[in-house]
Amino acid sequence: MTPALKIEHLNKNFGKRQILHDICFETYPGEVFGFLGPNGAGKTTTIKIAVGLLRLESGDIQIGGTSVNKNFEKAMAQIGGIVENPELYKHLTGLQNLRQYARMRGGVDEKRIQEVVEIVGLKNRINDKVSKYSLGMRQRLGVAQAILHKPKLLILDEPTNGLDPAGIKELRDILKNLAHKENICVIVSSHLMSEMELMCDRVGIIVNGKLISVHSVEEMISSSNGKKQQYIINVSDCDKALEALDFIEPADKLICDDEHIGVFLSRDHIKDELYDITARIVTRGIKLGTVSPVENKKLEDVFIELTKSGGNQIG
Ligand SMILES: Nc1ncnc2c1ncn2[C@@H]1O[C@H](COP(=O)(O)OP(=O)(O)OP(=O)(O)O)[C@@H](O)[C@H]1O
Ligand SMILES: [Mg+2]
Repeated sequence: MTPALKIEHLNKNFGKRQILHDICFETYPGEVFGFLGPNGAGKTTTIKIAVGLLRLESGDIQIGGTSVNKNFEKAMAQIGGIVENPELYKHLTGLQNLRQYARMRGGVDEKRIQEVVEIVGLKNRINDKVSKYSLGMRQRLGVAQAILHKPKLLILDEPTNGLDPAGIKELRDILKNLAHKENICVIVSSHLMSEMELMCDRVGIIVNGKLISVHSVEEMISSSNGKKQQYIINVSDCDKALEALDFIEPADKLICDDEHIGVFLSRDHIKDELYDITARIVTRGIKLGTVSPVENKKLEDVFIELTKSGGNQIG
């Protein structure tokens, strides 16, 4: 599949300071790709270069297979983007904004305008002035504007900044739909790991201008959690319970305190093993209380570990 965006050996200096170091990655149609990194990591700079707001000085960027170096205009025609805030006329209505933008871009008909209004869920408020819009509605109108010309690639720099949880969810659902249903490649940057976990299929982590890891969200979480899941089981007699669980390797079971044992179960057979465990405990006359999984690491923990270690433990 041709990548929607391919960044090859991107370097960038501001004065004598090197800000981006040999950034390389690819993103594909149909995915939401998260560009995750702490403040000052180089997210906005990378995005500005990708959308043509900053000059590409070295390396190459291809958009839908077209090189920015070889055919800048054709490459840029395939991108929609919002860097910082969407450009909107506040004294005009949402619809007037879209029509104005459509006139400037050309090649967008009224049907497409209605379509994007529907996609971003602004039908009921599209005839209100933008000055009366909430931040979330402005952001959604910005997305509508950015996708009017049916780009293959939509890039949004920190799109959820300042939105409340409901606004974040609305935007998240819209962006996921665009990727998964309309086959657009959506790239969002953020410093909020928890948000990326919910929104993205894959995440690239950038720290100090270096891309230190690109993985699917699932891979990142499961590889750092290992192949086993720990459960804590509340029983009336820990020694007897451990004895009853003789099918579990000694290294995978322990006594936590007078009433709790811990077991590590293989993620592939958790359900069957849990049935077996509860049956064995109960049939030996041991009282069984709660069985609870120990909470897994979240992407947030993984991210903090990775940025501390320079990204060495995931591979
Ligand atoms: N125009 C500029 N001139 C000089 N240095 C710049 C300029 N723009 C950005 N920088 C520097 O480049 C580095 C990366 O900045 P960038 O804005 O790309 O980071 P970011 O990951 O978007 O951070 P944030 O999460 O704060 O938005 C920072 O050290 C910043 O100070
Ligand atoms: Mg930024």
